[in-house]
Amino acid sequence: MPLRTQSSLEITEESLRELSAQATNLVFEYLTTISERQVRAENHAGKTLAAIDTDLSLDGRSIEQLLGECRTVMDLSRHNGHPRFFGYVASPSTPVGAYADLIASALNSNITCWRSGAAGTELERLVVRWLGALIDYDRDAKGLLTSGGSMANMIALLIAHRRMSGVDTSRHGLWNSGPPMTLYASEEVHLSIAKAADILGFGRDQVRVIACDERQRMRVDLLRQKIDADRREGLRPFCVVGSAGTVNTGVVDPLTELADVAAEFDLWFHVDGAYGAPGSLDERKKHLFAGLERADSVSLDPHKWLYVPVDAGCLLFHDADAARGPFSAEDADYIKTHGYADEEAFAFWDYGVELSRRFRALKVWMTLQFYGSRRIAAAISEDIALAAYLGELVSNADDFELLAPVELSICCFRYVPSRSMSDAELDRVNERIMELVQKGGRAYLSNATVNGKFALRACITNFRTTKADIEETVAAVRNAAKNLTADSRG
Ligand SMILES: Cc1ncc(COP(=O)(O)O)c(C=O)c1O
Repeated sequence: MPLRTQSSLEITEESLRELSAQATNLVFEYLTTISERQVRAENHAGKTLAAIDTDLSLDGRSIEQLLGECRTVMDLSRHNGHPRFFGYVASPSTPVGAYADLIASALNSNITCWRSGAAGTELERLVVRWLGALIDYDRDAKGLLTSGGSMANMIALLIAHRRMSGVDTSRHGLWNSGPPMTLYASEEVHLSIAKAADILGFGRDQVRVIACDERQRMRVDLLRQKIDADRREGLRPFCVVGSAGTVNTGVVDPLTELADVAAEFDLWFHVDGAYGAPGSLDERKKHLFAGLERADSVSLDPHKWLYVPVDAGCLLFHDADAARGPFSAEDADYIKTHGYADEEAFAFWDYGVELSRRFRALKVWMTLQFYGSRRIAAAISEDIALAAYLGELVSNADDFELLAPVELSICCFRYVPSRSMSDAELDRVNERIMELVQKGGRAYLSNATVNGKFALRACITNFRTTKADIEETVAAVRNAAKNLTADSRG
């Protein structure tokens, strides 16, 4: 085989210019038409693959063909940035965030440590401090950007466990570490907590589920009782997880009281603010987050309510030494930062699972700097106001029922065609309505179970949403209900 004498996959400058122009045009076209699209394209399994060439090319295809197929992929996607997309927790990416991701990919820094990605590492540490300061957690917060809230929560639980286990569990394993260690979270906590307990080998049963009050906030009296009882049985409580914005209804647990319990029983206090923590930027909501600053660790996803493109989660903590316990890579010779000291020896592998890591900080940094924290905070406040407006509309209408107070930007409600219908009948009707609304493409709602009832759930973390979009969503629900009645008659 002759040895390469010039770069093999490079393209000409002219082709590069063409690629840049065409890709930018495609993005421009997408971002300027997103609001006019159906939220979800007419779709069925297999439609995407039927619409593009599925043979792996031997000799390559032209950029025109590929961008044409990209357009098809975009057209057949659900548009989470559409102004009436309210499912799950998904915010639109700002154009600035999207281009930042392109720049990060072009640079392709690998943010393992300062030595490998000096600029990216410094930016990430800066952004972590900004996030800590933004939510009034810690102006000098330590932490790292992650793929999302699930990863941030899992890292937090590992750090907590190792810090509290009292023996070198990292070395000896769980089976040599004494009686089971238990953690405590409300019945409304995100599924990633139980999943993390499973992955980390604690076991899902070691997540003690604490019932909530009528507002879906963790009952602190029951928490205290459960910790007490577990201790008396010889178990070892190690962590309390509070939610700052639950995924179902967006409520914030009583964080100060949870911090008090954690202090009283000497437990790690983790707050899952993956969705809701940025809600504290709204002055009217700040009081809900009192006590957050006492958490040992906090999850907060810029890709949820700071309008940064996926993926961008974040775990914040006060104490870097605690994180270094389980993650430090002291045995791995090949990555050692020989010849570097102090700040230049800094490594993100000491804080988390990943070694190779994307340059996530660039899009967080560019988004926050482009808009400024005041404009971001205003967008969040508007989301909160729009969710409250939806709450008002459904509360004041005879054919709707609000199922949970609107605390941040989530509104849970149901359509009630007749007051004589049972909960079971209403569950069925609303499930069908949700399906019809989702498939109809005019708006997108997901669901939640609130006090045992099926709720239509709108999570408004969307800077494109306006008052008119909220009204149109209510109309879309009524329309779906009408079609349902017509269907059942026909
Ligand atoms: C409160 C909360 N925690 C954690 C997560 C998990 O985040 P991710 O999907 O980024 O892993 C979510 C997702 O919606 C969430 O709402």
